[in-house]
Amino acid sequence: MIPVSAPKRQYLSHRSEIDAAISGVLESGWYVLGSEVTAFEKEFATYCGVEHAIGVGNGTDALAIAIKALGIGPGDEVVTSALTAVATIAAIEMTGATPIAIDVDPTYRTLDPSLLAGAINAATKAIIPVHLYGQAADMATITKIADDHKLTVIEDCAQATGALYHSHHAGSIGNVGCFSFYPTKNLGAIGDGGMIVTNDPVLATAARQTRQYGWNDERDSLHPGVNSRLDEMQAAILRVKLHYLDADNNRRREIADIYDAALSGTGLPVPARRADTQHAFHLYVIDTPHRDRLRDHLTDNGVGSGIHYPSPVHREPAYENRLGDFERPQAERLCDTVLSLPLYPELTDGEVDQVATALAAFKAT
Ligand SMILES: Cc1ncc(COP(=O)(O)O)c(C=O)c1O
Repeated sequence: MIPVSAPKRQYLSHRSEIDAAISGVLESGWYVLGSEVTAFEKEFATYCGVEHAIGVGNGTDALAIAIKALGIGPGDEVVTSALTAVATIAAIEMTGATPIAIDVDPTYRTLDPSLLAGAINAATKAIIPVHLYGQAADMATITKIADDHKLTVIEDCAQATGALYHSHHAGSIGNVGCFSFYPTKNLGAIGDGGMIVTNDPVLATAARQTRQYGWNDERDSLHPGVNSRLDEMQAAILRVKLHYLDADNNRRREIADIYDAALSGTGLPVPARRADTQHAFHLYVIDTPHRDRLRDHLTDNGVGSGIHYPSPVHREPAYENRLGDFERPQAERLCDTVLSLPLYPELTDGEVDQVATALAAFKAT
């Protein structure tokens, strides 16, 4: 069976470089917040085209620390999309702020900006567009609405490392961008990791302090903080992998093109690509009412698949009736119809062909 994700393959394809990076850290004797993290922060900021990057423990913490560093907390509301990883909601709640989830647009499956006006009130402080499956949200409309209402835009880039929107990197468009380096992500660690990027020096300093007990350089705790540091081992590994990120994302798009071609004639729709963006294809997600039949067909042909997500966040037991009183028909429908195919740079040509052949043999009607 071709697995829907296979992070060990990426380790194997860069094994000697990664092993050398790991042993360099072991020998250095410095394991947390050292020269590897500092170098990776610089390299990642340059990659994204921003001034500041702050390494943290994971993508959820990146969002929570960014929100806290913006001074958002209890009594404030943060609006995001109902079709996202539950982590986006969890991060907002970690700060004491109230998460509000609105529907997505049915074509691109990202936050529907036309619904923002109905969700914004005096308590609203920020909007978190999620660049779902690797595709940028409608940032021009979202940032315009945010400006009009004096709201902060926090990009959830967990699934979109390397994605472009109007030639700008995801994470560099809003006030702050938050990344996850979970092993299956486009830039994946061998463990957990996350990053906050911004051009705002005040926010950068606040985030840097918040990640470590609110400490300034003299280790005075200036404000309440947390412990969420990127460790040296992960930073060293991520530095190796960052060199390959653009090539990896190109390979993801190449595979996506092959899947698009295989779908023509099946009656299944290809995932829509927003104009003037470069999709990072973290996931290749088909939207079909025949989802269960397609999944069985793929399994019968040795192709694994996944569902992102089986439930919109407002239907998760933890958040039911708590994310604002809105209709979210698109997110609810999509959770019944989406299917993710195997899509990672290490898929062999033979495996891609096997997936494409299985897809082409499916008849939606
Ligand atoms: C959209 C989204 N936001 C946030 C996160 C949280 O990232 P992490 O798992 O590194 O905490 C993830 C990853 O699971 C995600 O997919």
